[in-house]
Amino acid sequence: MKVKPAHNLGGFAEGAESLDGPAFADFQLRLAAANHQRLKPGLPDEASMAERDAELEASEAELRYLATVRSEIAPLVRDIPGDVDEFIAWFEGLQTSGPGQGDPLFPWLATEATLGELRWFLTQEVAGEAGFDDLLAMTQVKMPKQAKLEMARNFWDEMGRGHPGGMHGPMLERLSSHLGVDPLPGTVVPESLALANAMVAMAMHRSYAFHSIGALGVIEMTAPGRAALVNEGLKRLGVPARKRQYFAVHAVLDIKHSESWNREGLRPLVAEDPRRAQAIGEGAIIRLWHGQRCFARYRKELFGAAVQDAAA
Ligand SMILES: [Fe+2]
Ligand SMILES: [Fe+2]
Repeated sequence: MKVKPAHNLGGFAEGAESLDGPAFADFQLRLAAANHQRLKPGLPDEASMAERDAELEASEAELRYLATVRSEIAPLVRDIPGDVDEFIAWFEGLQTSGPGQGDPLFPWLATEATLGELRWFLTQEVAGEAGFDDLLAMTQVKMPKQAKLEMARNFWDEMGRGHPGGMHGPMLERLSSHLGVDPLPGTVVPESLALANAMVAMAMHRSYAFHSIGALGVIEMTAPGRAALVNEGLKRLGVPARKRQYFAVHAVLDIKHSESWNREGLRPLVAEDPRRAQAIGEGAIIRLWHGQRCFARYRKELFGAAVQDAAA
């Protein structure tokens, strides 16, 4: 499943076929830096030729990385049903049986982690957070009416229903600045960067639009349990309610988001074209697979190798 580059990528895509080691780490760092640049609103006269080349390189390189991941997860997506009811049952089953679900990291964060350990965890999570609102906005382009309306309602919640204080992105920023969390290249593990890079890649390419819908939907479905445990840990360590609002809100609101995403988004999309089931399912697995790798790496860093494989 190799993607042929449309032009000479120079050294940019080196490592796009790696899932471990220094080549993987270097590639994810390069792609994260390129994404930071290419997603920034700009002006035509300020866009240099070099930047346009960099945009093309990043675009091709991320497709190659997605192809690598698709090969890796192929055994997990062999039996995705195309029938609507069966597909929804399969998708909802990911909540318990999907990669990374029930990871022991989160009960530990709730009950045992120190503030320093939680701060380290949040540094990784903030780096892996590509901005649900923007991913959603990019994904909804030209979607059928019913799914688009669901995405619009979800987006409006992300926007705090028009109130700056209720916007989800700034909620996370408030927690980060309260705890002094500031992800820098040297402090972030490549698995976190890969998670954000994969989400951006699926949202940027229309050929992965249904993958992106699956990935966003599985976040809604699996986030509440983890968010509740992180919130518990922050509360235990004395972080004020106003500062941990991001996790408190997602522990509750995403349960509702997930139900309506599946009913108003996934159902009609698959009913209209059963081939989308495979794409949506793959996207969900790609997202969960990246999350699983993050949790394993976090445990390795936080607990040491001995406990690392407890949930394998
Ligand atoms: Fe949100
Ligand atoms: Fe949500």
